[in-house]
Amino acid sequence: MYKFYLTVIAFYCVVSTSCNNTSDQATANKDSVDHTTTTISNAVPDKKGFQTTIDGKKTDLFILKNANGITAAITNYGGRLVSLLVPDKDGKFTDVAVGFKNVDDYVGPNDAYFGATIGRVGNRIAKGMFTLDGKKYSLFKNNGPNSLHGGKKGFQAVVWDAMQPNDSSLELSYLSKDGEEGYPGNLNVKVVYTVTADNGFKCYYEATTDKKTIVNLTNHAYFNLNGDGSGTINNHILQINADRYTPVDSTLIPTGKIEPVANTPFDFTKATAIGARIEDNNQQLKYGKGYDHNFVLNGTGLRHAATVTGDQSGIQMDVYTEEPGLQFYGGNFMQGKSSFKSGKKDDHRTAFCLETQHYPDAPNHPSFPSIVLSPGKTYRTSSVYKFSVNKSAP
Ligand code: BGC
Repeated sequence: MYKFYLTVIAFYCVVSTSCNNTSDQATANKDSVDHTTTTISNAVPDKKGFQTTIDGKKTDLFILKNANGITAAITNYGGRLVSLLVPDKDGKFTDVAVGFKNVDDYVGPNDAYFGATIGRVGNRIAKGMFTLDGKKYSLFKNNGPNSLHGGKKGFQAVVWDAMQPNDSSLELSYLSKDGEEGYPGNLNVKVVYTVTADNGFKCYYEATTDKKTIVNLTNHAYFNLNGDGSGTINNHILQINADRYTPVDSTLIPTGKIEPVANTPFDFTKATAIGARIEDNNQQLKYGKGYDHNFVLNGTGLRHAATVTGDQSGIQMDVYTEEPGLQFYGGNFMQGKSSFKSGKKDDHRTAFCLETQHYPDAPNHPSFPSIVLSPGKTYRTSSVYKFSVNKSAP
């Protein structure tokens, strides 16, 4: 905790000298864009690439910023975080959210939920089946034998209603109709993304239903803390406050056991390079083709879940969440088929996700925390990705 405060103080020193007004930021961005030796993306994307009509609804790009110049760009197509500019160890604004430069690339076949708001149920449901009050429900199987991230057309592919109440927040709303993707109940969803005064990217989710249903919302931001387009994330340093995780079968469905991470490559209780043990002879790593697992977070309530530091940028991201689990996905299925806004391809393991969530396949594991939502109740949960500079980073 002490180290965290030190890094926050260091961060404030950096921003107060180099980027405490927007014109300085513009200069920093321009300078970076003109830089010929790097392709790292560090400009706010052009809104024009996001202004179109999909399913009869207008899409756009919304720019959120705080007084320190931290700037997020979010499109209401899928509620996607398209870019997130934060200062690195030299005060240079760096785009740490990997994404595309126009909405068409997100609609295309190579999209892997980049930056998206995920629902109704994030992660996998075994065989696309679950039972509620004795009634069986069947979902579209879009991931081998399983249903992943809401099914065929999850929340990542719908156009949300957007309202920007102030410079730093965006409210997205969506009514998922009774039966949509096989889920029961009209689900009214609200998501509020905020760039907070203390340099966090906050995700607040809210939902109500008129029939008993299941819900597990998350954001699928892909991060590269050295900058979109800067290569492997395997040298990023990761620490996760989880003594246990949920091992999976070959289709990435939890076996139901909750096992200690101690003496396994899943032990990130001490800060470790992401790639340090990724080639270990470990069955779980083989199943995930690397890290693609749910960590059982220690503690309850809004608490510190993880810290990641970019080995080149010194950018540190601290994750806080109310959720019981954290899916750490190391970009193992990135295929190098699409070009990001940086101009670089979505190559293998060039971004990672830390998806705050309830455990995968929760409806089929009564011992896991429940994701059932009943009429009259309100689903509410918050997670924050907070940025600072780690001066002691290599
Ligand atoms: C899943 C991965 C999947 C990725 C992109 C992650 O949340 O755990 O298995 O490849 O999303 O779809």
